[in-house]
Amino acid sequence: MISLDVAQLSKVYPDGTTALKDVSFQVNPGEAVVLLGHNGSGKSTLFRSITNFEQLTSGEVFIDGEPIQSLSKRKMRLVRKRIGMVFQDFNLIYNLSVFQNVLFGAMGQAKTSLHTFNWFAPKNLRMKAMECLDRVGLAHLANRRADALSGGQQQRVAIARMLMQDPELILADEPIASLDPKAGREVMDLLWEIVRERALTVFCILHQMDVAKEYGERILALKNGRLLFDRPMQEISDETLSLLYEQKDAAKLASYEEAGA
Ligand SMILES: Nc1ncnc2c1ncn2[C@@H]1O[C@H](COP(=O)(O)OP(=O)(O)O)[C@@H](O)[C@H]1O
Ligand SMILES: [Mg+2]
Repeated sequence: MISLDVAQLSKVYPDGTTALKDVSFQVNPGEAVVLLGHNGSGKSTLFRSITNFEQLTSGEVFIDGEPIQSLSKRKMRLVRKRIGMVFQDFNLIYNLSVFQNVLFGAMGQAKTSLHTFNWFAPKNLRMKAMECLDRVGLAHLANRRADALSGGQQQRVAIARMLMQDPELILADEPIASLDPKAGREVMDLLWEIVRERALTVFCILHQMDVAKEYGERILALKNGRLLFDRPMQEISDETLSLLYEQKDAAKLASYEEAGA
């Protein structure tokens, strides 16, 4: 079980863009948390900060009480292995087979090149890859090239790949933004089923309010890099949610005004 503690996190990019400002929250083991916010509100920056792929300007991120900034490279690798990531654009290797893509999810545990790994991966990992594929309902497509799959299937392959690392925490950055509503629901249902059956923690960025309401037990919202609210889903009124819509209008207004319109 993994716990995440973000304390007064700020991020200013070298070009002066403030992406996060004084953001603090905790994610406890077993929670299903949804992060909402408009484009550019800092959601992806927050995720990259949590995995230490983004240098923090100030503040701290603790995983199981340990500040990640002070971890050695080796320890950071071990922490990252415990965090499974799902992205909007799947990040598959499209000219390789579905099976190979899933197998590569175990690369973090091997110290070889991709090519060598592909040919010499031990039998137990190959079997595990098939099990992971089976879990997402795609074992029958194992030998198909990844680029011959639909978007929804590609995301399911990405989920199977992530399962290879036996993650404890899943960070999903707009996992259904590239999918049509039906495929999107299927991917959300699958992800949530897996989270439940393995008692994982999930922290998921979404931009569809209706989907967020349906799946999130707790909602965090970012507005211009600041935490707008952090509440259990059942305590969130339409009025609270409208704060986010207002932000959009305010941002629109500001950009119109800037343009002199
Ligand atoms: N590498 C970068 N350099 C400069 N600014 C960036 C960089 N990455 C993101 N930003 C800016 O930081 C803000 C937050 O971006 P991001 O975290 O991608 O937001 P979101 O994921 O909510 O759309 C935006 O204004 C974006 O343009
Ligand atoms: Mg983003």
